[in-house]
Amino acid sequence: MLGEKMQKALNDQINAEFFSAYLYLAMEAYFESRGLPGFANWMRCQSQEEVVHAMKLYDFINERNGRVTLKSLETPPGEWDSPQQVFEAAYAHEQEVTGLINSLVDLAIKESDHATNTFLQWFVAEQVEEEATACGVVDRLKLIGSSGDGLFQLDKELGQRIFTPPPAR
Ligand code: FEO
Repeated sequence: MLGEKMQKALNDQINAEFFSAYLYLAMEAYFESRGLPGFANWMRCQSQEEVVHAMKLYDFINERNGRVTLKSLETPPGEWDSPQQVFEAAYAHEQEVTGLINSLVDLAIKESDHATNTFLQWFVAEQVEEEATACGVVDRLKLIGSSGDGLFQLDKELGQRIFTPPPAR
């Protein structure tokens, strides 16, 4: 059984993960409007992954005999000045999410909730990857600068990303 504090914090994280999905959908729409379908595809995959993160938490709360409660989502931003600015915002967002995950781990330790702590380790590792990926694209965009050719190449590359859904429960 989940403690009340832990349950509330995990429910808050469901909201944060769905907000991430919403944010990346807004970024997808921006790239669509800029005629960059590869970047848009990457953001669609990223958004779908965030829903997987949210549902992992959702299933875990139920498994622990807790109660899932859903809240409304904040409106995400919709405009950015450049692809680089979008990825800088994505990187900053992932750093914030890492902070949220770390706080959840701190709480699980404080509450001696070993099961939740173990469960959260997947998210700890995932955040390392999430930050590295977003930061990697920022670095590429910095190198590309104002080169249309470079942007075109990167768009082609990001267009190859495929979302693989997790196995059905
Ligand atoms: Fe759910 Fe992008 O971390």
